[in-house]
Amino acid sequence: MSSVDLRELPTCTRCALAATRQRVVVGSGPTNARLVVVGEAPGRHEDEGGEPFIGRSGQLLVRLIDEELELGREAYFITNTVKCRPPQNRPPRREEIATCRPWLDEQLRVAANAVVLAVGNVAGRAVFGYAGPLANARGQLLTSERSRGIVTYHPAAALRGGSSVVTMMREDLRVLRPLVVGS
Ligand code: URA
Repeated sequence: MSSVDLRELPTCTRCALAATRQRVVVGSGPTNARLVVVGEAPGRHEDEGGEPFIGRSGQLLVRLIDEELELGREAYFITNTVKCRPPQNRPPRREEIATCRPWLDEQLRVAANAVVLAVGNVAGRAVFGYAGPLANARGQLLTSERSRGIVTYHPAAALRGGSSVVTMMREDLRVLRPLVVGS
């Protein structure tokens, strides 16, 4: 069981990322929202701005959620698996994910009845605990001890992979629609 006080997150020094980050990117939006979006880790823009998903991939993600779920950014809580930027945007390490985990667990506990949209395999595995490739897990309702929701591709993969990835993300988001919008 995690027992962290989220008021301490902005000054966290639990792992080495504290030495290279500019800001802890806690998350934005209503903490008790119906939908919680979980990404991988902040990039350069997020580290500077202190908010998750404000760079190019975030703009794509926000647009797809708006178009498929009819939810504006202010309607959901959005955060990352790891709250501090890894240097040069390298993938977060296993021990960084583990050390940061109680913060995400606590955010998910606060949003107890929320549906979770995990983007990318790092977030999907952290939230739902599956093993194996994202392609096998995407677009189906997943549950874990604390959460239910789906995993889909990370929007950065869509920026690299083009329209076929965007099409799959849209399909996946439609699976969430009845749970989030109620129809
Ligand atoms: N990618 C992520 O996973 N999270 C962000 O906040 C920005 C880019």
